[in-house]
Amino acid sequence: LRLLASVDLVRMAKDSGFFLAPGARRYVKKRWRDDWEAFPLIPEYAQLELAVRSGRPIRPPVEGVDDDGDFFSTVVPALFELHRPDAQFLAQRTPDTVRRALDLGAGSAVWSMALAQIRPPLQVLAVDRPKVLDQVTSRYLADHGVASQYELRAGNYHQVDLESEAYDIVYLGHLLHADGWEASRRLLARTYSAVAPDGYVAVAEIVAAEPPQFSYAPSVFDLSMLMLTEHGLVFTARELTALVSEAGFRDLRWLRGPGDYPCLLAKKGG
Ligand SMILES: C[S@@+](CC[C@H](N)C(=O)[O-])C[C@H]1O[C@@H](n2cnc3c(N)ncnc32)[C@H](O)[C@@H]1O
Repeated sequence: LRLLASVDLVRMAKDSGFFLAPGARRYVKKRWRDDWEAFPLIPEYAQLELAVRSGRPIRPPVEGVDDDGDFFSTVVPALFELHRPDAQFLAQRTPDTVRRALDLGAGSAVWSMALAQIRPPLQVLAVDRPKVLDQVTSRYLADHGVASQYELRAGNYHQVDLESEAYDIVYLGHLLHADGWEASRRLLARTYSAVAPDGYVAVAEIVAAEPPQFSYAPSVFDLSMLMLTEHGLVFTARELTALVSEAGFRDLRWLRGPGDYPCLLAKKGG
C-alpha cells in the first residue's frame, strides 16, 4: 500500500488507513500488467499476487537456513559496484583507532574492503554463508589484493561464534531489512557484545522516507521483502536510529555519501 501511495494510486487517510486516489479506479485490474517494468526482473514477481494475498514469501525465505546462500551468491556481486562509493566515503571518515573489523553478511566484503585498502594494518573477520564465502567473497578479496588481511568464517551470523569486545568496527551492510524487527534486534545485541569498548557499528541500509509517499524505490524494495523474506521490511531513518540506540550504541551519526542512502555510524560507550 505504501508503494501504491508513492505513485498516488492510493492515499493515506489521517487514521493511517488507505483509500483509492481519484482516477485510480481505472488502474484496478484483475491482472497485474506484464509490462510494468519498474520492478526488478526477478521471477518471483510473477507470483506477486500470492505474496500480497497471503502476506508470506513465495519461496524459501532468502534469510532463512533453507536457502543456504543460493540466492545471495548470485545477487551480491551486483551490490559491489552499487555500495562501493559509499563504502569508500565511510572508510575515509572512519577513526584512526580502528584496527580490527568484523564484516557480518560480508558478501563481496565491499564495506570492510574499502577500509582494508586504505589502511593495510586492518585485520578483518568476514562472516557469511559457506557458498557466498567460497563463490563471491574469496574472489573479491583476491581480485582487490586484500586477501591476506582477512579471515573467513562460514555460518549463520545469528549463531556463529564471535569474540567478545574484540572489534573496533562491525559492519552491518544491507542485512537488517531482510531480517526484520526481531532478528535485527538480536543481531544488534550480538553486535554490541562483539564491539570493543569505544568501538563502532556501521549500518548501511536502504532507507524509507517519511512519509513513505515520496519513497518509490524503497517501497518497491519493501514489496520485494514481502515476496522474498519472512519478516523483512525497509526501515525509516527514525526506526533505524531507534534500533541502534536501543542496542546501547551512542553518538549516532548519519553520514550522507555519494549514494542514495546515508550510512549510520554509532559508538559503543560514552
Ligand atoms: C544484501 S547482501 C549484502 C552484502 C554486503 N554486506 C553488501 O552490503 O553489499 C546480504 C548478505 O548477508 C548474507 N546473509 C544473509 N543472512 C545471513 C545469515 N543469517 N548468516 C550469514 N550470512 C547471511 C547473505 O549471504 C549476503 O551475502
